[in-house]
Amino acid sequence: MAEQLAEVLAPYRGQRGATIPVLQKVQEKLGYLPEEAISEIASFLGMSKSEIYGVATFYAQFRFERQGEHTIRVCQGTACYVQGGRRVLDTVQQITGIQPGGTTEDYKFSLEKVACFGSCALAPVMVVDKEVFGRMTQAKAREILAQY
Ligand code: FES
Repeated sequence: MAEQLAEVLAPYRGQRGATIPVLQKVQEKLGYLPEEAISEIASFLGMSKSEIYGVATFYAQFRFERQGEHTIRVCQGTACYVQGGRRVLDTVQQITGIQPGGTTEDYKFSLEKVACFGSCALAPVMVVDKEVFGRMTQAKAREILAQY
């Protein structure tokens, strides 16, 4: 990990104000921000670990646990909810055995619920990584997840 971090951090040498871009780049590289990376970033930027955590925990985009290979996001916004979004989420939970915010033991899937993707016309919506699936049904959720 030290080698990967050195490569990501190098362009930001001496840029004390670069905390957020550095956190973003490290998360892009590792998929999350493990404690070891936070320590490394802190000493690189000349800040304390708690200062780095203070910044990182303020933004919902940063993750501190290892994520699954695929992230499943199921919309629970109003339009999706009234069109059966809850049933889609229940089905995904049954298939994966995890709750929103969780990751399967084999690190295959992470599951999140989202308030609205801005694609309400396609309700109910599920997104796997960057692929958007609209007009979801329980059967469709099973079919889609079987492909991963
Ligand atoms: S409510 Fe689900 S996409 Fe808008």
